[in-house]
Amino acid sequence: MIALMIHGGAWDIPDDLVEAHRQGVARALAIGWEILSKGGSSIDAVEKSINAMEDDPTFDAGRGSFVNSIGEIELDASIMNGSTFRAGAIAAVQNIRYPISLARSIMENSEHILLVGTGAVRFGREHGILQCRDDDLLVGRELERWKELQGKENVSTKDAFRKKRPGDTVGAVALDENGLIVAGTSTGGTPNKYPGRVGDSPLIGCGTYADSTIGGVSCTGWGEAIIKVVLAKTVVDMMEHNGGDPVAAATQAIERLEEKVEGYGGVIVLNREGVPAVFFNTPRMARAYCTSAMASARIEV
Ligand code: GLY
Repeated sequence: MIALMIHGGAWDIPDDLVEAHRQGVARALAIGWEILSKGGSSIDAVEKSINAMEDDPTFDAGRGSFVNSIGEIELDASIMNGSTFRAGAIAAVQNIRYPISLARSIMENSEHILLVGTGAVRFGREHGILQCRDDDLLVGRELERWKELQGKENVSTKDAFRKKRPGDTVGAVALDENGLIVAGTSTGGTPNKYPGRVGDSPLIGCGTYADSTIGGVSCTGWGEAIIKVVLAKTVVDMMEHNGGDPVAAATQAIERLEEKVEGYGGVIVLNREGVPAVFFNTPRMARAYCTSAMASARIEV
């Protein structure tokens, strides 16, 4: 059994952006599926799928990321190997072209899990990770959004999500033929965020979690709320205790997110047998998935 799930954010994706989201998650799925179906590893599938979305300005990850309140782009990302429990993550990092690749390098080349700011950039330089200028990540749409937000009363992150502001975080979960489950997530965070703000995406257990004996999860949505309920690990814990049902776990975890902390977002889930599930409480969520048990891939926005 092999399986791959991709997401490209959960929010009120407007009609005119649906096709770009559909194409973006479909492209990411095709890249990762090619790797898995040739016997490649879940680590490569997750990294390369997310790289494709970090390249695609449709999404809030890599190129296309939101701009913070002082006009800078700060990136968060994480990846976790569900067989070794090794993980790598970066938070509030600037000038990295492919944030998930730096997270992977930390997982594979250091004893640490989370590096932030200039220390993460330094690690990337030492390990051949591609650096870039802010301008290489900035797109006109986000510059305009940032200009529009200046001088206005800042909308709290919670209100921003209530008002269905964009949340185009990207993520992937893969199961390869060796039974390895890997999950990864990458984001530019939230629009006009305070400098140094870190969301759920780089926090293992919050935005990302994998345990090859149970399953893997990547989250998207309002990070402050997701952190409070440790959403990704909550889904995995629920699967551990419900006989491995990913649909029930995804549904109940998002219900808990809304009931306990008025949170909004979505999750993609694979259980250890590669059974997929997705659940969200936003109007739309961009996702794509395929397993060797399915006749064809599903692309949904
Ligand atoms: N879920 C992405 C963030 O809040 O940063």
